[in-house]
Amino acid sequence: MTWLDNDTAAALREKFAITLAPTRTSAWRDAFASVPRHVFVPAFYTQDATGAWEHIGPGDPGYLEAVYSDRALTTQLDEQGIPTSSSSEPSLMLAMLDALDARGGDTVFELGTGTGYNAALLSHRLGDQNVITIDVDPDLAGAAAQRLAAAGLHPFVATGDGAGGWPERAPYRGFIATAALRAIPEAFLKQAAPGAVIVAPVGYGVLRVTVTAPGHGTGWFLPTPAHFMPRRTPSVAPAFDAALEAEPTTTATAPGDVLGRLRFPLSLALPGHTTCSWRGEDGELTAVGIWTEDGATATAHVSGTVRQVGPRRLWDVIETLAETFAGEPQRQEFHVNITPTRQTVWYRTPDGPAWDLPQPR
Ligand SMILES: C[S@@+](CC[C@H](N)C(=O)[O-])C[C@H]1O[C@@H](n2cnc3c(N)ncnc32)[C@H](O)[C@@H]1O
Repeated sequence: MTWLDNDTAAALREKFAITLAPTRTSAWRDAFASVPRHVFVPAFYTQDATGAWEHIGPGDPGYLEAVYSDRALTTQLDEQGIPTSSSSEPSLMLAMLDALDARGGDTVFELGTGTGYNAALLSHRLGDQNVITIDVDPDLAGAAAQRLAAAGLHPFVATGDGAGGWPERAPYRGFIATAALRAIPEAFLKQAAPGAVIVAPVGYGVLRVTVTAPGHGTGWFLPTPAHFMPRRTPSVAPAFDAALEAEPTTTATAPGDVLGRLRFPLSLALPGHTTCSWRGEDGELTAVGIWTEDGATATAHVSGTVRQVGPRRLWDVIETLAETFAGEPQRQEFHVNITPTRQTVWYRTPDGPAWDLPQPR
C-alpha cells in the first residue's frame, strides 16, 4: 500500500511492526507493516499537565512518531471532554488478533469500528469481503468507511449496537470486540460457526472464548491488562452526599487496592462499576469512591473509614475479594464457562471462587 503514504511514514511503520512483533511469531506483522495507521488516525488528542486536551495533527511535531508507537490514541471527545473513541494500543490489538486465531478466508465480525484501523488490519490479512465491522456512532462508521475505501479496502461497515451482531452475514469464524463488554453477547454465540473464537474485553481483561456448541463456550482471560472504553450505555451519578450521612464503619482493606491489585477481579464482581479517587496536595491517595448503576455507592478513606449507601454494600464485596486474593491475581488464571443461561468466570479451578457475568441479551 503506497497511497497517501510517504517515505518517512513507511520507514517509521516498518520499525514499528518489527518492534511490535520482533521475532516474526505473529502472522499479523505484515498487516501492521503494511496498513498505514496515520491514514486511520489523521489526528488525535493528548492531555497536557493541567488535563486540558490538545489536538495533534500531521503538521504538529511528533505526530507521526506517536502514530507509529505503541500508544493508544484518543480520537474523539464528547462535549465534557470525555474520550468516546480511540485507536487502541497496538500491542494490545496484536495480542487480541493473535488470540483470534483467524486465517485468510475466515469471516470475522468486529464490534467497535472506531477509526477503522483494526478493520483494515483484519481486511489486509483475511480479505475485506470477510470482515464485518460495526460502530454505534454513525459519524465514526462513515469516516472509517471512507478511510478504508481510500485504502482500497471494502469491508462491510455498519452502524448500530454491535451486541446484536449482524445476522445477515453469519455464521462467523471469529468475533472481536474493541469496546468493553459485561458478558459475551447472546447474538455472538448464536451467530458463531462451530469452533468459532470470540475475543472481547470483559471488565479490565480480555476474554478468549471458543464456541463449543450452539450457545455454549469455554475460555480464559489473556494475560494482558486491558482498559477499553465501555460499550456505550447511560451513566449514573454517585450518591456521595448520601454517603456522607451514612454510619461509618472501619476496614483493614487498603483503598488503593481498588485501583491496583483488585481492579480486575472487581470488574468481574461488580460489572460496570465506576471508581474515583481523591488525592492530597502531595499527590498521595486519600480516599476512593465506587458506585454502580443501581445507585449503590461507597467511599473509603486511607484512615480506614468506610461509608456505604444504596441497595447493596459495595465495600463488603471489595473486602471479600481482598480476603480471596493474597496478592495481585493473574488474569490467565481466570476461566469462563458459558451456557445459554449462565456465563461463569472461575479462578484456578472450576470449584474455586466464581462470579456470574450479567445475563447478556
Ligand atoms: C476503542 S474504540 C475502537 C477502536 C477501533 N477498533 C479502531 O481500530 O480504531 C471503541 C469503539 O467502540 C464503539 N462502541 C461503543 N459501544 C458500541 C456498541 N454498543 N456497538 C458498536 N460500537 C460501539 C465506540 O463508538 C468506539 O468507536
